[in-house]
Amino acid sequence: MKLQSLLFAAATVFAASAYAQNPIVIKFSHVVAADTPKGKGAQKFKELAEAATKGRVKIELYPNSQLYKDKEELEALQLGSVQMLAPSLSKFGPLGVKEFEVYDLPYILPSKAALARVNEGPVGKALLKKLESKGIVGLAFWDNGFKEMTANKPLRKPADFKGTKMRIQSSKVLDAQMRALGANPQVLAFSEVYQAMQTGVVDGSENTPSNIYTQKVHEVQKHLTVSDHGYIGYAVIVNKKFWDALPADVRTSLDGAMKEATRYANDIAQKENDAALEAIRKSGKTEVYTLTPQEKAAWRDALLPVQKTMEERIGKELIATFNKEAAAAEGK
Ligand code: LMR
Repeated sequence: MKLQSLLFAAATVFAASAYAQNPIVIKFSHVVAADTPKGKGAQKFKELAEAATKGRVKIELYPNSQLYKDKEELEALQLGSVQMLAPSLSKFGPLGVKEFEVYDLPYILPSKAALARVNEGPVGKALLKKLESKGIVGLAFWDNGFKEMTANKPLRKPADFKGTKMRIQSSKVLDAQMRALGANPQVLAFSEVYQAMQTGVVDGSENTPSNIYTQKVHEVQKHLTVSDHGYIGYAVIVNKKFWDALPADVRTSLDGAMKEATRYANDIAQKENDAALEAIRKSGKTEVYTLTPQEKAAWRDALLPVQKTMEERIGKELIATFNKEAAAAEGK
């Protein structure tokens, strides 16, 4: 008995030191700054996951596209060169999961309450499940915020967009949205936005205040319109082969860490965006303009038809479900 427990203790010590020397490494790559809702969520996950697994897992964070840009990071995940990402929901179309573009439909999600209802319910789960056929497991949704428009001219009426070259993420819905406003959409990687604005490759863009501020977009754009016409959020994803091969107890610990990091990320997202908008205002480099209710109504008239024209791509039923869940969250 004594010998047995001695052997067991020795084996435990041996295993612990083997893990310490040889931890399971999770490379978590993303495109935004560390000082953003996603960047901070990733940092929180790292801390929680490493503590919960007592050093058996090491999370390496690679923010700011330092490892891969938008398109490459998804390829890298499928190839197993990185294990974890949190791409914006607007970037899953090129992967062949175009239903995620439902989140890009203008005005589909009127509030964070509607968003939470969709993401935490069966609709969100079913969307994440769709990733499995691509060799990807979806672990969670992380929030960023509502989008504003920027350009070097005021954008107050839909007619102001005419002929303006607007950077978009790789989403057909965003392409349709910009065309509905009369703009010329251009897909560009997030890391290329600042330079494209500086050199005039594009005239403007849409993004959350946090992304605009941390990429210094406000330094190369004279006008920002607070429009909240759409939303940016993320799916935290892992390579399925890697995930399935993890020891079960490690996977359970990581799941727990992800749940807590998700609560944290979703809790800080709006505050981060509010602070970023305030910082943009204070910088004095961009004129910040908030649409009046009448102007908002004109944007809605121009943009709501996109929900109809994108039915074939996204699925009529999915769009209807989103609208129904949104109405329920608003108590309608
Ligand atoms: C963008 O490309 O504008 C965003 O998806 C970046 C991000 O990850 O928030």
